[in-house]
Amino acid sequence: MNIQENISLKKYNTFGIEAKAKRFVTVNTVKELNEIISLEKDVFLLGGGSNMLLTSNIKKLVVHINLKGIIVNDTLKDEVLVTAEAGENWHEFVLWCISQNYGGLENLSLIPGNVGTSPIQNIGAYGVEIKDTFHQLEALEIKTGNIKTFKNEDCDFGYRNSIFKNELKNKYIIINVTFKLTKNKHKTNTSYGAISTLLQHKEAPTIKDISNAVIQIRQSKLPDPKEIGNSGSFFKNPIIDAISFNTLKEKYPKIPYYVVSDTEFKIPAGWLIEQCGFKGKRFGNTGVHSKQALVLVNYGNATGQEIYSLAEKIQKKVKTIFNIDLAIEVNII
Ligand code: EPU
Repeated sequence: MNIQENISLKKYNTFGIEAKAKRFVTVNTVKELNEIISLEKDVFLLGGGSNMLLTSNIKKLVVHINLKGIIVNDTLKDEVLVTAEAGENWHEFVLWCISQNYGGLENLSLIPGNVGTSPIQNIGAYGVEIKDTFHQLEALEIKTGNIKTFKNEDCDFGYRNSIFKNELKNKYIIINVTFKLTKNKHKTNTSYGAISTLLQHKEAPTIKDISNAVIQIRQSKLPDPKEIGNSGSFFKNPIIDAISFNTLKEKYPKIPYYVVSDTEFKIPAGWLIEQCGFKGKRFGNTGVHSKQALVLVNYGNATGQEIYSLAEKIQKKVKTIFNIDLAIEVNII
């Protein structure tokens, strides 16, 4: 394996931040990954680089997970088990599933990143999360090099959350993920407002129709990382209690919200940030996207520190005006 030195990470993170890896290695097989881990345990794992903000150079060995391949197990009646290696690009994988007429992932079209990192934050959009079709994953335990299987119930999936962000953080390396997808009767979800509007003329939208609608909606709201650096939603949508929610609703009768439970309400962070006057504002090399205030952008030469400072400025203002703490969703490195 070729361990390179002083490698720029600019093309490896969707924010397009310039930062250097002191040492960098790409692993293409599980055997190679095992070899690296047997030599060095305290490594920095790099997947699609779509959920991180680099605020400094990386001193640890950067291990770029480039495991590729898709395997289909077609022995069930109405469903199919599809296993993708961790280094497969998420969106290409979703499109491949749709081309095979395998349903379940279409609402998650065009999400940046790789398959291997998708369970860590239980990626979700337009009414669907990967936990809905997740069957199992295999992960390499860093300490022992053993491979362990995690079933759905082992992963503790929650809103943008899983066991791999908590108890098992930095303990396992996900090497492949298996999804249970439909092959005959698809259980589609078109409940999200903008999707149902786009598909109102279709009597029975196909999974391809849904994927196309999602792509259209995402392209109209979210900046393409190839054109303008970003990491999708920078913050999580905060969940507040009923008392705080009622106080806010009185003051802002038009506040958008999702009911989480009898006592919990989720408020779109994008709305809070917009109310604070940040939407579309530029601050030097950084800014808040003009069509979705939840997305912070790099106009070209921003440093991670500059983006982080903008995030802090937003958090302070939201706290002052709404008394709500916005949690950062992106990993700050
Ligand atoms: N809104 C505003 N101003 C904004 C943005 C949003 O007022 O600038 C309000 C609108 O009322 C809108 C509501 O917020 O109706 C919800 O907006 P949107 O449908 O765009 O969804 P979101 O809650 O802002 C979440 C995910 C997105 C995902 C969409 C669609 C999080 C942190 N983000 O955003 O995920 O695509 O729902 O399901 O949960 C990502 O994680 O990178 C991501 C883009």
